[in-house]
Amino acid sequence: MSCTIIVGGFFGDEGKGKIVAHVAHKDKPTIISRGGVGPNAGHTVQVGEKEYGVRMIPSGFVYPDARLFIGTGVLVNPDVLRQEIEYVGVEGRIFVDGRCSIIEPKHIEQDKADAYLSKKIGTTGTGCGPANVDRVQRIAQQAKDNPELAKYTIDVPLEINQALDRGENVILEGTQGFGISLYFGTYPFVTSKDTSASQIAADNGVGPTRIDDVIVVFKAYPTRVGEGPFGTEMTREESHALGIEEFGTVTHRERRIGCWDGTMARYSAMINGCTIAAITGIDNVDEACYGATEYEQLTEKAKEFLRKAEEDIGVPIKLISTGPEMSQIIDLR
Ligand code: IMP
Ligand code: MG
Repeated sequence: MSCTIIVGGFFGDEGKGKIVAHVAHKDKPTIISRGGVGPNAGHTVQVGEKEYGVRMIPSGFVYPDARLFIGTGVLVNPDVLRQEIEYVGVEGRIFVDGRCSIIEPKHIEQDKADAYLSKKIGTTGTGCGPANVDRVQRIAQQAKDNPELAKYTIDVPLEINQALDRGENVILEGTQGFGISLYFGTYPFVTSKDTSASQIAADNGVGPTRIDDVIVVFKAYPTRVGEGPFGTEMTREESHALGIEEFGTVTHRERRIGCWDGTMARYSAMINGCTIAAITGIDNVDEACYGATEYEQLTEKAKEFLRKAEEDIGVPIKLISTGPEMSQIIDLR
């Protein structure tokens, strides 16, 4: 049995959704539960020709045999949740902790109307920051008080801890990335909560002693959306010349693109307590690696990149993503 946390090591959008989907199919968890801030997250998962984007539902939904939870610490927007339940067809296996705070329309209005948040910080405008303020002020509504959510509410920590007692596998899915953690990130250009592995455990009511593995996902070419420092950022001309162009899942803003940042990777691995490193976008390092499923299929250029990255991170790289589709991955675990 094991409890595995999967988090982002850079500024978000590292491809956690794809890693979760792969790990779920391989490890066969009975529960996949989301931590993180709320619907500011956008996770993309591609299975075959179909591409899905989710903001509330765990990206592990593509694995059909797990129950899907939203952890206690996560902000819930009931409208987004309802739409996604229909869109991906998970009615009957999706549950929400009764203590989750609710994002109300006024939170979204505040997020968008506040020039400091919307312009200076460049928030996603999804109401997460203002909703977390209300939680701290102890005036936020909780999921259990919302009639629409009544049929979904459960005690998420209790269900997860009991599953671990029975010897089942559980995946705790993080959102955002290390660099936009409220505490460890590039403050004040950060999101409204910590995003590290400890927070993801806490969001789900799982104590630190029960975690077996922490998979930290790094992108070969990190990206950032919104404002704030980005030490290894390239110019648009440089990234476009490399053939890299990306847009945000939630806001559709063009993502800023940077080179590999070994110093940040090492610091992020340390604070996350990384036991397994995952690298995505290795096909951007050398397009000849696109779709590889065996280490031997990688080119010398890619292997050299991975050796250097592994030295930087200080933890073995055991998952190497070679394209967006779920099966385009090398798993050395
Ligand atoms: P907020 O989380 O909407 O308050 O936005 C604060 C900052 O975090 C902005 O720079 C956002 O672009 C960034 N951010 C929030 N969620 C994500 C995410 O899931 N991926 C990437 N950036 C994010
Ligand atoms: Mg994203």
